[in-house]
Amino acid sequence: MNAGLEGVVAVRTVLSMVDGQEGRLIVRGAPIEQLSGIVSFEEMASRLWQDLSPEVETPEGVAAALGRARGEVFARLQGVLPLAKDLPYFEGLVMALSSLARGGDPTHYHVAAALPVALAGLSRLKRGLAPVAPDPALGHAADVLRMLRGERAGCDDEQALDAYLVTVAEHGMNASTFTARVIASTRAGLLASVTGALGALKGPLHGGAPGPVLDMLDAIATPDRITPWLTEALASGERLMGFGHRIYRVRDPRADVLKQAVTRLRQLGNARLRFAEQVEREALALLARHKPDRPLQTNVEFYTALLLEAIGLERELFTPVFAVGRVLGWTAHVFEQERTGRIIRPESEYIGPNASALPV
Ligand code: ACO
Repeated sequence: MNAGLEGVVAVRTVLSMVDGQEGRLIVRGAPIEQLSGIVSFEEMASRLWQDLSPEVETPEGVAAALGRARGEVFARLQGVLPLAKDLPYFEGLVMALSSLARGGDPTHYHVAAALPVALAGLSRLKRGLAPVAPDPALGHAADVLRMLRGERAGCDDEQALDAYLVTVAEHGMNASTFTARVIASTRAGLLASVTGALGALKGPLHGGAPGPVLDMLDAIATPDRITPWLTEALASGERLMGFGHRIYRVRDPRADVLKQAVTRLRQLGNARLRFAEQVEREALALLARHKPDRPLQTNVEFYTALLLEAIGLERELFTPVFAVGRVLGWTAHVFEQERTGRIIRPESEYIGPNASALPV
């Protein structure tokens, strides 16, 4: 029995290596520090999809195909978005994605384009505003912000979002990617696999953590309350959001690259960043005392929260925006699973009534 499949290697992948002891993330040969803030979302997509998808994935080709797909899915989603606007974001996204099944399984470009187009459209409808049509000529990250705001964002915000989407695009056999691979292993197709992955991402132990990170900072409110607040939270059995990881035993390297991206953003006041750093330092000290045998370090979600807040996104959008980046990894893993994998089917140990009975 291995609860949580910890330490179990179930697939071989060319996509990424998560080195938990050294705190390294390598994506198709390159450390994340050489990708985040350096390559664009489209270049990252090309890196992840190449030799796995049915297309030749040059960065220029990906940019053109994604731009075209944003326009096409915008037209296709016009009927469904008003029906989905009163649902929570995740359920609204699932509804929008599922509607793409009309006419057969969509391409990976359409799936990757549908998430931000639906997200921006839903966000605007919830605010009583009309969805804004995509601009195929823009980069993906710039267009996501433009569709949300109704006008071009500044260069700093666009670059920060691009860096974020690249940073979270791919990360080994995390819960949502594993879900996508399990579904793909049954040959259910791209849309079913990504829809399932979305469900797994939603939970607060996986992609749902960044909103609660800000809730925590707000609840702490002032430096003098940091230690008592965190001590009380741990004493009452709460988990501190933005800390701990299944694989990393040292600091999550994505936390550092996102912290750098946040530090470059002028609109995040120094006071907010300094306060967050104080909370981080104290949380790490208390966690070390709370769980001396389990190294609990800062994970990607802590600085994600600060970055997405600084570029003006509302908290409910944080986890769906994570999906806008992670869809690259999900789709690449689906292609890889379909090419190389077996059906994923672990076993369970029966502990119910008559557990010792021999099979007849
Ligand atoms: N705060 C307090 N205690 C913690 C935390 C935390 N953030 N993380 C783990 N622990 C404790 C657990 O309660 C557990 O204690 P126990 O043995 O007394 O039950 C012990 O440390 C070991 O924890 P596990 O649950 O075995 O750790 P696991 O590897 O399964 O979980 C996880 C990893 C889910 C990320 C966990 O650290 C957590 O819940 N963190 C907070 C939520 C979070 O930040 N999620 C985002 C993760 S990054 C991502 O998915 C993109």
